[in-house]
Amino acid sequence: MVLLRKLPGMPGWPAALGLRLPQKFLFLLFLSGLLTLCFGALFLLPDSSRFKRLFLPRRATASASSSSSASSSSASSSSTRDTELPRSPPAAAEPRHASPAAPRRPREKLRTAARMAGPNRTAPGPRQQPQGGESRAQPAGSEPPARDTRAPFRFDYERFRRSLRHPVRGGRRGEDPETRARRMKIKEMMKFAWDNYRQYALGKNELRPLSRNGHIGNMFGGLRGATVIDALDTLYIMELQEEFQEAKQWVEQSFDLNVNGEASLFEVNIRYIGGLLSTYYLTGEEVFKNKALQLGEKLLPAFNTPTGIPRGVINLGSWSWGWASAGSSILAEFGTLHLEFLHLSELSGNPVFAEKVMNIRRVLSRVEKPQGLYPNFLSPVTGSWVQHHVSIGGLGDSFYEYLIKSWLMSDKKDSEAKKMYDDALEAIEKHLVKKSAGGLTYIAEWRGGILDHKMGHLACFSGGMIALGAQHGPQDSRQRHMELAAEITSTCHESYTRSDTKLGPEAFRFDAGSEATATRLSERYYILRPEVVESYMYLWRLTHHPKYRLWGWEVVQALEKHCRVESGFSGIRDVYSTTPTHDNMQQSFFLAETLKYLYLLFCEDDVLSLEDWVFNTEAHPLPINHTDFRAAEQP
Ligand SMILES: *[C@@H]1O[C@H](CO)[C@@H](O)[C@H](O)[C@H]1NC(C)=O
Ligand SMILES: *[C@@H]1O[C@H](CO)[C@@H](O)[C@H](O)[C@H]1NC(C)=O
Repeated sequence: MVLLRKLPGMPGWPAALGLRLPQKFLFLLFLSGLLTLCFGALFLLPDSSRFKRLFLPRRATASASSSSSASSSSASSSSTRDTELPRSPPAAAEPRHASPAAPRRPREKLRTAARMAGPNRTAPGPRQQPQGGESRAQPAGSEPPARDTRAPFRFDYERFRRSLRHPVRGGRRGEDPETRARRMKIKEMMKFAWDNYRQYALGKNELRPLSRNGHIGNMFGGLRGATVIDALDTLYIMELQEEFQEAKQWVEQSFDLNVNGEASLFEVNIRYIGGLLSTYYLTGEEVFKNKALQLGEKLLPAFNTPTGIPRGVINLGSWSWGWASAGSSILAEFGTLHLEFLHLSELSGNPVFAEKVMNIRRVLSRVEKPQGLYPNFLSPVTGSWVQHHVSIGGLGDSFYEYLIKSWLMSDKKDSEAKKMYDDALEAIEKHLVKKSAGGLTYIAEWRGGILDHKMGHLACFSGGMIALGAQHGPQDSRQRHMELAAEITSTCHESYTRSDTKLGPEAFRFDAGSEATATRLSERYYILRPEVVESYMYLWRLTHHPKYRLWGWEVVQALEKHCRVESGFSGIRDVYSTTPTHDNMQQSFFLAETLKYLYLLFCEDDVLSLEDWVFNTEAHPLPINHTDFRAAEQP
């Protein structure tokens, strides 16, 4: 499978090898045998394999799933998983989901009512929630949570709000007019992105801004409205009241959880669960909490594996599949559940969610780590690594992010997470951090001991993460880590400034004479990703060096110039072309993350203060646990 994936990128391969005719014939024979084998193997893959879906039509997939057995080898399925594209790929051509060049970072509006109802609570309803367990408050028409065997429980929202140190949308005024004007510009971009989505694609997952229609994709297993859920908290924070109401109304009336189909556990968690949870915490509106809890229940069967390490793909519509199917789970996927799942337990009073992720923690802290590094693939059956590829970009990234954020979210009580983070960062510093000939610091990837001098756009979140973690170390490491964070962020900025569009490529390299530039055609695209502006935002908040706002503004201008089209924002296929081709896709994370981080970059520090919130890997803010603010009714 690895071989196959590389083929398309090697035009005229046999010829290039200088083979003679008979050799060519043999070679082709061999190749066709291999192809047949591989295609046949598709039927043996674990039914979770998204790879299979690329090749088999929906119905065939279903029947293949039911007939597939646990016999598939974990080796073949792991390399298959390698091809997955958890995050949306350069759009338009679906099969490009399989491009190994674009694994999404597994590491993926509301002023409205609040204004009317006062700063603390937006809607009526939440408060009159009964305390009895039988009738956990539900908006009319929604389904009861799947289980309700627990003692009466009520999350005390008012108490939670009192525990915050700053108003969620900030309280300070008196900034300079230019900063305000820039912030307003970003708000206008958000409104434009939302309005077009609403007009042409409401209820679909994403907007296709050139063809003016909706995109559904296959990551969410029949769930719809990814852009709605992802946009909610951004609309709220930006005080786009009307738009927030539109989004909320869609959630109340049209967001259907009774769906069938295979979904990425990771993507559903970071986008849907994350978006719903954060909107609940920001507004107190029960509908968001209820939807989050109902959806959370549907994710639990994914954990029925011998190790408790969840499978990457779950079927939202059926509970029938067993745990035996092999295949490996991706570090950044199962390592990016912790924040949301703790909140699912917090809000439901049901400890099962927290238990599931604490078990993942346990498995990971026990398993042997080569050189202290965490490889990207683990078998949910045996609990051991499937191969030794380490990256802080796609596939690995948000696992590290969630360690430090778990500690921060626990109000610095989860010292196990801090220790794991510190150890991992030390190993990364020791083995992966490099300096290029031109003096740029970057984080390389590691393949079984061999370094690949490449950094993905996805890995650019690490500047912000390292800066965030540096705040809490001992003095010497604190300074070293702040420098490292600033250098990495600066390298990522270079990857932007060295392109003609001033937007950065999907991956850039430091070898064969290249310095922070993409060398391969397949790595030159930009799909509205947030990681670079995410790091600008953290470094701005933590250092207040004005360059970060300048760099953020450069991105705003480049987005306006190259990505804004008549009906929304689109990714581009080549950042080195001054007349780039658009990919016709407005990713939902553009509204959730890119625009939110840009906006926050031009806000005062008390807007979604880092003292009160941690951002999940889709930029949905979750509250730091200042107190045990749960209500007392718990047994
Ligand atoms: C919001 O809080 C303030 C004081 O904290 C209170 O006076 C006001 O009534 C509250 N409003 C609502 C709608 O809860
Ligand atoms: C917050 O802290 C309390 C007490 O330490 C704990 O019981 C609760 O689970 C925590 N909640 C979250 C979301 O971490």
